[in-house]
Amino acid sequence: MKILAFAATNSTKSINRQLLSYAGTLIEEADIEVLDINDYEMPLYSSDREAADGIPEQAHRFYQKIGSADALLISLAEHNGSYTAAYKNLYDWTSRIDTKVYQNKPTVMLSTSPGAGGAANVLATATKSAPFFGADLKASMSVPSFFDNFDAESGRLNDGGLVKELQATVLRLKGVLA
Ligand SMILES: Cc1cc2nc3c(=O)[nH]c(=O)nc-3n(C[C@H](O)[C@H](O)[C@H](O)COP(=O)(O)O)c2cc1C
Repeated sequence: MKILAFAATNSTKSINRQLLSYAGTLIEEADIEVLDINDYEMPLYSSDREAADGIPEQAHRFYQKIGSADALLISLAEHNGSYTAAYKNLYDWTSRIDTKVYQNKPTVMLSTSPGAGGAANVLATATKSAPFFGADLKASMSVPSFFDNFDAESGRLNDGGLVKELQATVLRLKGVLA
């Protein structure tokens, strides 16, 4: 069973990718592929571009990656209360292939930010619209104050309560996959 994991940001030092990598270690015996959305960068979506040149192959590849996974683990970065422009662009292009971008896959959504809000706004947006976009949402969790709660050296959360909550959250995927 294969879990496709990605952080919805183009930052190479992404804290959401760090959280995602740690979350993956909490799911034992899972085959996890971590995808970098930088590998799917495209020009900004425009209906004019789409009419002139069609949908770029990067969007098709991203859609196929999701299609070939058994489950999805996504960690969302928040820019100005919403998705990063990088992920929104990838999402917009992919939604032109199929509105059900997430293709009915069992999905867990996470988010984190340096602030106390933990990117909860974008997480709320994503979880609310999940059914419309074809995500079979199993659980979600926002991790606040990333740099207080995550030890970059060991690559782990250092707050016992958050560890337990994260484990319970990601294991909702394993329940599905077992
Ligand atoms: C343009 C911009 C807007 C931001 N807006 C928010 C915000 O609305 N809420 C928040 O919690 N953090 C915000 N941040 C801080 C990000 O949470 C922080 O940069 C975080 O590292 C992004 O996640 P990533 O490292 O996984 O890309 C913003 C950062 C930038 C550059």
